[in-house]
Amino acid sequence: MIRLKDIHKTFIDGEGENKILQGIDLTINGHEFITIMGPSGCGKSTLLNIAALLTEPTSGSVYFDDKLVNFKKEKNLEQLRREKIGLIFQNANLIQCLNVLDNIILPMSSKLSYKVKKNTALELLDLVGISNKSKNNVKSLSGGEAQRVAIVRALVNNPQVLLCDEPTGALDADNSGMVMDLLLETRRRTGCALVIVTHDKEIGEMGERKIVLNGGEILGVENSVQAI
Ligand SMILES: Nc1ncnc2c1ncn2[C@@H]1O[C@H](COP(=O)(O)OP(=O)(O)OP(=O)(O)O)[C@@H](O)[C@H]1O
Ligand SMILES: [Mg+2]
Repeated sequence: MIRLKDIHKTFIDGEGENKILQGIDLTINGHEFITIMGPSGCGKSTLLNIAALLTEPTSGSVYFDDKLVNFKKEKNLEQLRREKIGLIFQNANLIQCLNVLDNIILPMSSKLSYKVKKNTALELLDLVGISNKSKNNVKSLSGGEAQRVAIVRALVNNPQVLLCDEPTGALDADNSGMVMDLLLETRRRTGCALVIVTHDKEIGEMGERKIVLNGGEILGVENSVQAI
């Protein structure tokens, strides 16, 4: 579904070139569950943002459904992202001037009626225990609540692939469990591929394929025989 081939990413700052990713090859197949771990600053978010077609690599190719992605064609990218990719950012990235409900409804198809969109949003909010906050301004949410809204927003269009950047980073154990259940259940129900970047060893261990990133390269890939 998403194939990254020989991906390099270099950032240039005041101190010169910063080679973050140095030749990453990674294929995300349909329905697969991959976890990505690695030390802070090793490029996990950068890699996820490239897979989500948000960041253009310095060199290398990205294929979506076997088609080479052209990062210069913004309109196509936008459509792919909206219809096929669910991305949960490391920081929730909600739109501050909209309330909870409107943040979730925003990416939904214009073909659906407002009532259908609202009901879908409320059902999902209920699953993560915050349907009572639907009218709240997102500025009033705690970090963990905001993250749960971001997760719901990523699920509304039934994406083919769900890319999650530390989705439980801001959550306590109970809510972390709730979010993991929701992500795994969504994968079971919709058949989407699931990629989770995490610092949590327990979650890291859950992946069918566990990837360790360090020094700009994929250091280890471990396949688990037990599918979740
Ligand atoms: N837009 C940018 N411009 C310059 N440097 C950047 C940019 N984005 C990321 N970096 C640098 O690239 C490196 C990797 O960042 P990235 O966010 O991918 O790390 P990470 O593995 O996700 O870390 P963490 O576990 O802390 O989230 C960092 O040193 C960061 O400062
Ligand atoms: Mg990160």
